[in-house]
Amino acid sequence: MGLEIIGLNKTFSDKKSAETVQVLNDINYHVQDGRFVSIVGPSGCGKTTLLRIIAGLEKASGGNLLLNGREISHDVNRVGLVFQEYALFPWRTTLQNIELGLEMMDVPKEKRRMTAMKFIRSFGLTGFENRYPHELSGGMQQRVAIARTLITDPKVVLMDEPFGSLDSQTRNNLQAFLLGLWQQQRVTIIFVTHNVDEAVFLSDEVLVFSKRPASIVARFDITASRPRERTSTESNQMRKMILDTLEAENMETP
Ligand SMILES: Nc1ncnc2c1ncn2[C@@H]1O[C@H](COP(=O)(O)OP(=O)(O)OP(=O)(O)O)[C@@H](O)[C@H]1O
Ligand SMILES: [Mg+2]
Repeated sequence: MGLEIIGLNKTFSDKKSAETVQVLNDINYHVQDGRFVSIVGPSGCGKTTLLRIIAGLEKASGGNLLLNGREISHDVNRVGLVFQEYALFPWRTTLQNIELGLEMMDVPKEKRRMTAMKFIRSFGLTGFENRYPHELSGGMQQRVAIARTLITDPKVVLMDEPFGSLDSQTRNNLQAFLLGLWQQQRVTIIFVTHNVDEAVFLSDEVLVFSKRPASIVARFDITASRPRERTSTESNQMRKMILDTLEAENMETP
């Protein structure tokens, strides 16, 4: 059970110039239920494209995606997305942004409000429910974005550099916060990052992608026990192996 990515390919074609760009090259991977998997890889290799395809925002050119054995595309509600740019609606308050996912699922108003308030409490947003995104710090905005996704009870959460624009202290706090949520909800997370430290701290598995067109060049199991020490010998060793693999990939001539 889990998410199966089978022979996934993606080529973008420009109808006007007849040019084509291959972005994903035969991605095969099985993400077991409840695992935290990170993806690192050169800029422009196809990571966001892969997440967009899993989320149903983009069509694959070939291959299959199965969630618990069923084609995923008709089941978009079971996949949540959190992007780097918080993508909150600026005209909606914290409460209204968090309720949005439930609105789209036609949950009645009373129930929506009650559930959203529960999330507001557990996400440390009490007192900010009626504030607009521009009145919140970056870390708070990202918590609202995560709450808005998790409130829909997704089976899989896709995160695309969600902490990329935060300062390192806020980033560390949110990493720990995310791990707490993940451990409580046992949701599957696929997390794209450029930060190898972050990948090693958070993940059960780290995938290294090649340059475009992306394929999986290496997979690392992070077996360090949790809660993790960021600077343990084990973490440092993993970090070095992943960084070396990435560096070798970046030096490869296309
Ligand atoms: N809609 C599109 N039409 C044409 N080309 C696209 C489209 N979306 C992405 N691409 C191209 O696909 C390639 C991969 O882009 P993608 O955004 O997936 O990379 P990425 O690995 O997420 O990069 P980064 O690490 O910089 O975020 C790039 O060359 C990009 O220009
Ligand atoms: Mg990207």
